[in-house]
Amino acid sequence: MEKIVSFAKRKGFIFQSSSIYGGLQGFYDYGPLGSQMKKNIRDSWWNFMINTRPDVVSVDSSIILNPKVWEASGHLKSFTDPLTECKSCHKRFRADHLTEFKCPECRGDLMDVRNFNLMLKTFIGPVEDSTSVAYLRPETAQAIFINFKNVLDTQRLKIPFGIAQIGKAFRNEITPGNFVFRTREFEQMEMEFFVRPGEEKEWFEYWISERMRWYTDILGIKKENLRVKKIEKQELAHYAIDCVDIEYNFPSLGFAEIEGVASRGDYDLKQHEKYSGEDLKYFDETLKEKYIPYVIEPSCGVDRVMLALICEAYNEFPKGRNFNSNNVETLLKLKPIMAPVKVAILPLVRNNQDIVLKAKQVFDLLSPCFVAEYDETGTIGKRYRRQDEIGTPFSITIDYKTLKDNTVTIRERDTMKQERVLIKDLLQCIQKQF
Ligand code: GAP
Repeated sequence: MEKIVSFAKRKGFIFQSSSIYGGLQGFYDYGPLGSQMKKNIRDSWWNFMINTRPDVVSVDSSIILNPKVWEASGHLKSFTDPLTECKSCHKRFRADHLTEFKCPECRGDLMDVRNFNLMLKTFIGPVEDSTSVAYLRPETAQAIFINFKNVLDTQRLKIPFGIAQIGKAFRNEITPGNFVFRTREFEQMEMEFFVRPGEEKEWFEYWISERMRWYTDILGIKKENLRVKKIEKQELAHYAIDCVDIEYNFPSLGFAEIEGVASRGDYDLKQHEKYSGEDLKYFDETLKEKYIPYVIEPSCGVDRVMLALICEAYNEFPKGRNFNSNNVETLLKLKPIMAPVKVAILPLVRNNQDIVLKAKQVFDLLSPCFVAEYDETGTIGKRYRRQDEIGTPFSITIDYKTLKDNTVTIRERDTMKQERVLIKDLLQCIQKQF
């Protein structure tokens, strides 16, 4: 994991937030490559969960909601972690993460455990008192439930259907750590899928297998690095009647949750109906019956998926992929759709104006369709290695032959195979690979 962290920083994927001021624990920034890759993850999820499905729509809600939402949802009362503190060094720990009841840092005695609410507080307006308290959302899901009626009234949806959203969530984690695995600000991709009561079991199984399909078939994560873990009754969140975690086998950490698929019953809509006084029932025209639908919720974290993808793709080879070499180089074997840069445009030399001009024309041709990087510094070998390291699947070289016949070479990252292609066929040739 240490290697992954330093690689992610060195190549501009992920930086510690506020680093020039010494950082801020539990917060990270995504650099040029990280922000592109994050967008790829969001786009892929959006495509899989919304665009390619006739039964799912999207919303994009505000982060701060009426505080009554959190009263109704149970988060104010129950969204807590057990907190303890060392009597000697005053370090704080999550009691459920400790294997014995001594301070893991100094072996001092620990204080009694108390429940600590994870919601981050703020104040709305100029007066900071109990009437202006509000919370940064700890999950995006509640905004979907409170918009249920708005969506129903404006769309012509028939059960079963889903409402999905991607957005930031905030939790005042007691012990953030393991890089972007556990942070205080992160991004969730969530969908609430509303079904007829009684049909929740089969939809629960359906969504577990659909979500696994996204990880394996679309993101390219190996099956053996994923597992589905059933959550025992006593560990279920306050809203859940059933839940599984989809876990990825992270280096150092082992198998850890990247997504939860929960069967939330009618808990949330019922609570909001009770607290708001609004009728949140659905009229089922087929059954001629009004009821509160049950909900299946696949919920995953963009940051954890990104960390899993980098771990999965990170490979080290002897330099030049020559097994007699002692020097190591990195190859990021990301699937092309997940790679932050899709094509590198490399003029063989930079002191030939005709070659440089042609290379810039190729950049102009490809960059509206693919994230492209133009690079003319260093030897061509070094430039190929730079692209391999950040996972660019295709590198295009413009050379002397290009000036004669308008062909360029396309080099494929994993096989290092090169093929000559006419510039006019380039776009189509690369498009075929996605
Ligand atoms: N609406 C359900 C819900 O929020 P969760 O299991 O608490 O369920 C869902 O969170 C996902 O959000 C997790 O599987 C994880 O990927 C991500 N997540 C949760 N807490 C996180 C944190 N502190 N840092 C990074 N990601 C987090």
